[in-house]
Amino acid sequence: MIARGYQRSIDFAYLGRAPTPPLAVGPPPAAVRRGADLDRAGAHALQNLAFAEIPNTSPVTRADFDAGLASPTAWPAATSSWHAADGRCVGFMLGVREPDHGVIDAVGVDPAWRGRGLGRAIVADVLAVAAAEGLPEVRAVIASTNAASLALHHRAGFVERARKELWDLAW
Ligand SMILES: CC(C)(COP(=O)(O)OP(=O)(O)OC[C@H]1O[C@@H](n2cnc3c(N)ncnc32)[C@H](O)[C@@H]1OP(=O)(O)O)[C@@H](O)C(=O)NCCC(=O)NCCS
Repeated sequence: MIARGYQRSIDFAYLGRAPTPPLAVGPPPAAVRRGADLDRAGAHALQNLAFAEIPNTSPVTRADFDAGLASPTAWPAATSSWHAADGRCVGFMLGVREPDHGVIDAVGVDPAWRGRGLGRAIVADVLAVAAAEGLPEVRAVIASTNAASLALHHRAGFVERARKELWDLAW
C-alpha cells in the first residue's frame, strides 16, 4: 500500500457493550426531557448542526432522514429527541435494530448543551431499551478522530471489538 502511494487517513473503531448493567446517570441538565414522540424536524436540524464539525460526514436531506426512519432496520423504541424546557430539541438518538444487536447509528447534542451529561443520558436510554427487548449487545462505529464520541462511549462502558483502517490514494 505504502509503495503504491497510499496513506492511512482515519480509522473506524467498532465498539460494543452489553445493555446490562444499566448506565448510571445524574439528573438531566436543566430539565431536559426525552420527548414522548420523535420531533423529526428538530432532530433532523440538530443532526446536521451537530455533525457539521465532524469530518467525513455530510448534511442529510430531510427525505433521507425520513427514509432512514422508515427503513426495515429502524429502531423506533430507541430513536428519540430530547427537549429543553422551551421545547427546543437539544439532543437526539437514531437507533438501528439488527436481529441480534442494537446500533447507535447517530447521537448528537446541541453544542450549547454539551458537557453536562446529556449525551450519557441518551446512551443510557438506548441501553435500557435494548435491555427491555432482551438484546445482548449495543454497538457503535466511531471515527478515530471523534474524541468526544469516543469519550462518551468509552465512559459508558463500550469497548473496542474491531477497527477498520482507511487508506487514501492522493489523486
Ligand atoms: C458526542 C456528543 C454526543 C457528547 O455529548 P455530551 O452531552 O457533550 O456528552 P456528556 O456531557 O454526556 O459526556 C459524556 C462523557 O464524555 C466525555 N466527553 C464529552 N465530550 C468530550 C470531549 N470533547 N473530550 C473529551 N471527553 C469528552 C465527558 O467528559 C463525559 O465523561 P464522564 O462521564 O467521565 O464525565 C457530542 O459531543 C456531540 O453531539 N458531538 C457531535 C456529534 C457526534 O460526534 N456524535 C457521535 C457520532 S455518532
